[in-house]
Amino acid sequence: MPRQFINPTEIPSDCKLTKADLDTPFLAVDLNKMDFNISRLSQATKDFNVDWRPHCKGHKSSIIATRLVAAGAIGATCAKLAEAEVMVRGGVPDVLIANLIVGDSKLRRLANLCKEGDPIVCIDHLDQAIPMNDAMLREAVQCRVIIEVNIGLDRVGCNPEETLALARELHAMQGLKFSGIMGYEGHLLTIEDQDEKRSEIEKALRFLSNNAKQLKANGIPCGIVSCGGTGSYLLSRMQDGITELQAGGGMFMDQFYEQQCQITGMKKALTIVATVVGRPTPERAIIDSGKKTLHVEYEPAIVVGRDDIKVARLSAEHGELELSGAAQNLKIGERLELVPGYADMTCVLHDFFYVFQNDTLVDIWPLEARGLLQ
Ligand SMILES: Cc1ncc(COP(=O)(O)O)c(C=O)c1O
Repeated sequence: MPRQFINPTEIPSDCKLTKADLDTPFLAVDLNKMDFNISRLSQATKDFNVDWRPHCKGHKSSIIATRLVAAGAIGATCAKLAEAEVMVRGGVPDVLIANLIVGDSKLRRLANLCKEGDPIVCIDHLDQAIPMNDAMLREAVQCRVIIEVNIGLDRVGCNPEETLALARELHAMQGLKFSGIMGYEGHLLTIEDQDEKRSEIEKALRFLSNNAKQLKANGIPCGIVSCGGTGSYLLSRMQDGITELQAGGGMFMDQFYEQQCQITGMKKALTIVATVVGRPTPERAIIDSGKKTLHVEYEPAIVVGRDDIKVARLSAEHGELELSGAAQNLKIGERLELVPGYADMTCVLHDFFYVFQNDTLVDIWPLEARGLLQ
C-alpha cells in the first residue's frame, strides 16, 4: 500500500518498503554501490601507505562517517566547526576542520570539543592562532593545529615561504599542538590531459613536501601532510611526503567527478527518484525535481538508463526533460532516477538519505549537520 511520509520515525520497523512506496522526490543511496566505492577509496589510499580522512562536507552524517572509519578511514575531514561537533558527538573523535575558525564563541566551542574529541584546525595567519591559543589555555586544553598552505588554489593558505615562520610561532604556543600542514589542489581537478594533470599536481604538492622537509630540518614536527579530493586522489596519493588524503565525495560518485575529473571505475551510488508530473508536448516532460532537489550547476544530471532523455532545464521545483525516441512514450506518473551533476551540493538540499539494497529500503540516515553552518 502506498505510504506518504517525510520522516523515518513514521515507518514501522516491520514494514518492507521499496522505492515505489516513497513519495518523490527523495535522495536515494544504493548501499552496495556506496560500499563498493568506499572500499575502492580505502584500498587506493592503503596501496600507497597514505591515511584516509574522507571529507564529510557532502554527506554530513555521523552514521556515514562511522561507516567510513569501519572501512579504514582514520577519522573525518570537516568544513565547519559544527560539522566537527556532529562527527565527534556521533562517535568519530579524530576530525580535521579544513577551515579557519575565528570568533570568541567558536573558540569556546572548539575548546569544549577538545574535551570530547581530538580535533585539528587549520591556521594560515597568526591572528587566528593567538586568540585560539588563549581560548585553549583558558580551558586548560590543547588543540591540534596544522598550517594551510596556498599551493595554487588561491583561496586560503599562507604563502609556502611563510610556513616555517608561522610554524615556529604555533609550535611555541602551549594551547596549540602544532601537527603539520595541508593544501588543497582543487584548481587542478579538471585538467583533461592526464600527464599534465599528474605533473601539475606533483608541482603543487611539492610545496607541501618541501615545507614538511623544511620544518623537520628545523626541529618542528610535521606528522600530518594532508591534501586531496576525489578529483585528484589517484594522483595525489603517490606524491612524495603526503601522509593523508581528504577524498570523500567519491563514495557517492557523480557526473562532475566522472565527466570533468575523469574518475572512472566507481559506481553511481546516489540518485534522486523523481516522478513525471507533466507532458506539455511529445518532446518534453516535467518532473517534480528542480533546483531545490538537484544540483546541476557544474555538470548536468543524467537519467539512469535513459539515453533518450536529457535534463534540459531546472527551475526551483520543476525539472524539464527533453525526450527522443522511445522516451516520447513517457507517461505522467512514471518514475525516473537521476544521477546529480554534483552530489555534494545535492545532498545538502535534503534531510535524509533513503538507503536501499537493490530495491528494498534498509535504512534512513539523517544529514545531521545539514544547515549547521556555524
Ligand atoms: C579542503 C578540501 N578538501 C577536499 C575536498 C574534496 O572533497 P571531495 O573528495 O568530496 O570532492 C574539498 C572540496 O571542496 C575541499 O575544499
